[in-house]
Amino acid sequence: MSAPTTTTGPLSSAAHARHVAGLTPVLTARDVSIEYEVSPPVRAVQDVSLTLHRGEILGLAGESGCGKSTLAYGLNRLLKPPAILRSGEVTFHDADGTDLDVVSLDGDALRAFRWDKVSMVFQGAMNSLNPVISVYAQLEDVLLTHRPNLTKPERRERCAELLRLVGVDPSRLDAYAHELSGGMRQRVMIAMAMALEPQVMIMDEPTTALDVVVQRGILRELMLLREKFGFAVVFITHDLPLLLEISDRIAVMRAGRIVELDTAEQIYAAAQHEYTQKLLGSFPSLLGDFSYDDGATA
Ligand SMILES: Nc1ncnc2c1ncn2[C@@H]1O[C@H](COP(=O)(O)OP(=O)(O)O)[C@@H](O)[C@H]1O
Ligand SMILES: [Mg+2]
Repeated sequence: MSAPTTTTGPLSSAAHARHVAGLTPVLTARDVSIEYEVSPPVRAVQDVSLTLHRGEILGLAGESGCGKSTLAYGLNRLLKPPAILRSGEVTFHDADGTDLDVVSLDGDALRAFRWDKVSMVFQGAMNSLNPVISVYAQLEDVLLTHRPNLTKPERRERCAELLRLVGVDPSRLDAYAHELSGGMRQRVMIAMAMALEPQVMIMDEPTTALDVVVQRGILRELMLLREKFGFAVVFITHDLPLLLEISDRIAVMRAGRIVELDTAEQIYAAAQHEYTQKLLGSFPSLLGDFSYDDGATA
């Protein structure tokens, strides 16, 4: 056990402790601090400890600028200067039983970790599809790099299957980004993140730019895919009410720290931190009324 620290951890309930007791970790962050080395330095993430469990959807909520994307990059070893990991540990607990020290990975081991084990849907991703290359070529590129043994027909079939999974007609494989709606482009980015069947997907504001109807369709599909494939998701958004609907647990981040971490039910029914309550009150619900009444005894 580590020595007690002077900082207090995030608020959590007894129900939360019972909930996590039976779960298996897939990604653990311990006391992670990340700084942007600019003048003056920005301490974007401070002493964050988090455990993502197999197959769970962990929501990460907080206002713009609180450090969500920086933390996501840290978890996936994607930090670039001026960002540096000041301290902390990130461990990936592979399905085969081995633990990977994510912070010390390099070379081939790092390439094999990223995308294969943990993939990411970047903030604004739908605008990052290459405009001059077809959807197929971009999906195929992931397979060419990470699955060199697949034949060309196998790659084509896998890319078609991936589009089907995210609700895009495979006839769109030969389309270019500008021929697709925003929702379809975002679905393609999710397909790309799923291409290698990662154990974890980190999704940074994946639906923020989309209208509510499209957003709901994508979220529904994501829930079904999670059921089917069992990957875990870190779902990042400033929209806490949305997270209440899709997450198993929610971490609330403020000014670089996680201030509250609990089951979605607890956050909905009895948020402890004043800041969480403020976030809950500041959005109209996407769905209108909803409740956790049904199924709560399972
Ligand atoms: N390249 C950078 N250089 C300096 N500061 C940065 C850089 N990128 C982000 N920041 C700062 O780090 C903090 C956290 O940013 P970010 O992780 O993007 O927040 P969020 O994703 O929650 O909106 C903010 O104060 C932001 O201004
Ligand atoms: Mg962000």
